[in-house]
Amino acid sequence: MIRPRRLRNGERIRELVSETLIEKNKLIMPHFVAEGKTKREEIPSMPGIERVCRENLLRDIEKDLNAGIKSIILFGIPEKKDDEGTGAYSENGIIQTSLRALKRRFPELFVITDVCLCEYTSHGHCGVVKDGRILNDPSVELITRTALSHARSGADMVAPSDMMDLRVSSIRAALDSDGLQDTSIMSYSAKYSSAFYGPFREAAGSVPQFGDRKTYQMDPRNSREALKEVFIDIEEGADIVMVKPALSYLDIICRVKDSIEIPLCAYNVSGEYSMVKLMSLKGIADERMLVREIITSIFRAGADMIISYHTGDIYRNGWF
Ligand code: PBG
Repeated sequence: MIRPRRLRNGERIRELVSETLIEKNKLIMPHFVAEGKTKREEIPSMPGIERVCRENLLRDIEKDLNAGIKSIILFGIPEKKDDEGTGAYSENGIIQTSLRALKRRFPELFVITDVCLCEYTSHGHCGVVKDGRILNDPSVELITRTALSHARSGADMVAPSDMMDLRVSSIRAALDSDGLQDTSIMSYSAKYSSAFYGPFREAAGSVPQFGDRKTYQMDPRNSREALKEVFIDIEEGADIVMVKPALSYLDIICRVKDSIEIPLCAYNVSGEYSMVKLMSLKGIADERMLVREIITSIFRAGADMIISYHTGDIYRNGWF
């Protein structure tokens, strides 16, 4: 008689037969760094996550490192926004100055930077806008300048999240001709147009002022298109590709994983984080158990690494 429950009877045997190994070093912690007057500000829709100034970022990173967190992704919030998102690629922008300070203080830290214009543009779109349209090639030019300035300021990896066509090859060429062959590219390849980005847009003040992002971010109904985006980015020179968000897209993670030979990152996004936080604060479910199940499911689907706002809690509370 075959009885599957024999292998679930006790903790020891469950450990021995478990198929998914969770490795904390594969988690990446996001940080929001703000220019200007903000010193430290909780993001109302993301309990536990803050916007901080550069000095406080350095303090927080020191705590992260002491807790064991060695990989981060940085998002910048400029003081002023304009139509061309100048703050994104300015030599003394908030990300550029933060990178130089971080790399000086914590050379062992692995720093990824989100490369996009939406936090820096007055219209909130991820590119250059003309007559109500988001222009691809002029946007790629500015995205490339942004990536290059991050790399020159010390980013270990740049992560374009704009979803314009041809940006990966443009960034790769710019980095290579600047002697930055060792700076890697993680491409937000299959980035879906998602309601789960709501809290992030509050955090970064990047709500589009007109229209939506559907002409560049992917349609949630599509899955073969995710493979197409991923293959294009690999051809263009991406070192790592990403699927985002994670939870409603576990099928995409699984499908992409089975089809590629380079590492795959999944982004457990802001709205996914907020759902967990709000449920736990309301006493509807146990936060630790939710987080463990969610992180496990994303790894089980095939992610090699995960960007998650839960990373801080996981390390500080010893949840894995
Ligand atoms: C910038 C960017 C966004 C996110 C990461 N980079 C927002 C967006 O596309 O609107 C979302 C991250 C999250 O929700 O946690 N383009």
